Amino acid sequence: MGADGKRKIAPSGDHVILHDSSFFRRHPTAQLPTPAQVLARCKALGDHPIAPRPRPVRFPALGLLVKFGTAASIVEGQCLYALQGRTVLRVPEVYGWTVENGRAFVYVELIRGVTLQDRWEWLSEKSKTVVCMQIKDMVDDLRQIEEDPMNSYVGAIGNQPPEEILFHSYMTPARSFHSVAEFHDWFALPAPMPPGIQVHPGRFDLPDDASIVFTHGDLHPSNIMISARWPWDRWEWSWAWNIWPWDWPDWISWLWKGEWSWEDPPRVLAIIDWQQSGWMPSYWEYCKARWTTKRGSDWQTTYFPMFIEPTDVLEAWLVFAYIVAF
Ligand SMILES: Nc1ncnc2c1ncn2[C@@H]1O[C@H](COP(=O)(O)OP(=O)(O)O)[C@@H](O)[C@H]1O
Ligand SMILES: [Mg+2]
Repeated sequence: MGADGKRKIAPSGDHVILHDSSFFRRHPTAQLPTPAQVLARCKALGDHPIAPRPRPVRFPALGLLVKFGTAASIVEGQCLYALQGRTVLRVPEVYGWTVENGRAFVYVELIRGVTLQDRWEWLSEKSKTVVCMQIKDMVDDLRQIEEDPMNSYVGAIGNQPPEEILFHSYMTPARSFHSVAEFHDWFALPAPMPPGIQVHPGRFDLPDDASIVFTHGDLHPSNIMISARWPWDRWEWSWAWNIWPWDWPDWISWLWKGEWSWEDPPRVLAIIDWQQSGWMPSYWEYCKARWTTKRGSDWQTTYFPMFIEPTDVLEAWLVFAYIVAF
């Protein structure tokens, strides 16, 4: 296995604090906020901490963001851990995770940028292309990770059930799958069939010989962070983060730390939101990205095919995806 094919194994357990992470080097005397502190901050910002998927809570002074809720999962923390230190792919650094009262809390690096979604309509065609080329390099790097030949499966990292959100409304799988064929049998199962027919005809169009690759599972512009442009983005953040625009000490420290630039085209800072990631058939990334895009948008027709290979499995995939998702 080459250096870039390396797999890092995340520490096991529901309560993990990564004392070696840069959080504790930067703030030697600080601690990660407790779940109660995270929930209190969520409430103070006017959000509902009991929602399954509240907006992640930011602690800008600590360079920290906490993703939490009943629909959050420590699998995301484990995945981020496994993806740290890659040569090209950038993901937020993970500082720890915990579970309390059925809610997961994942502590990660706050990426000081804006989402590609927020910036998309302002970008020139050239900038969009350059951004997609950067994403392509990162996705190619992700694909370098090699499966463990002794432990091949379809599922979330660590041989866990897939966290794919498509499955959540209908039938959450309780386990990972030993092979692509076994996964396909399960995926095709709920499709209604006339009496006497054992296997849905579309099942034969799901390729059992697809390779299994490490897949993000939600490569949507809201999950790609790009460099911010000062001062407009800062103004937007102030609004989004409930930091008063006239909080000058915060502005000055932000300027001083240089977390802004005039870059055009922007730089891709990180790919975020790895909750649905895992070892999936190679066509999954394209089909899933296509599923989340607006029909006819330039993202769908021109840009995301620049970094994910289109596949003709889409048609068969959609048949079953609609059934499991709704
Ligand atoms: N590490 C991060 N740094 C900065 N912003 C983030 C980070 N993680 C999430 N966000 C912001 O929060 C939003 C929701 O987080 P995300 O992980 O995508 O969760 P969801 O599963 O709800 O889509 C993102 O679109 C982004 O605006
Ligand atoms: Mg997201």
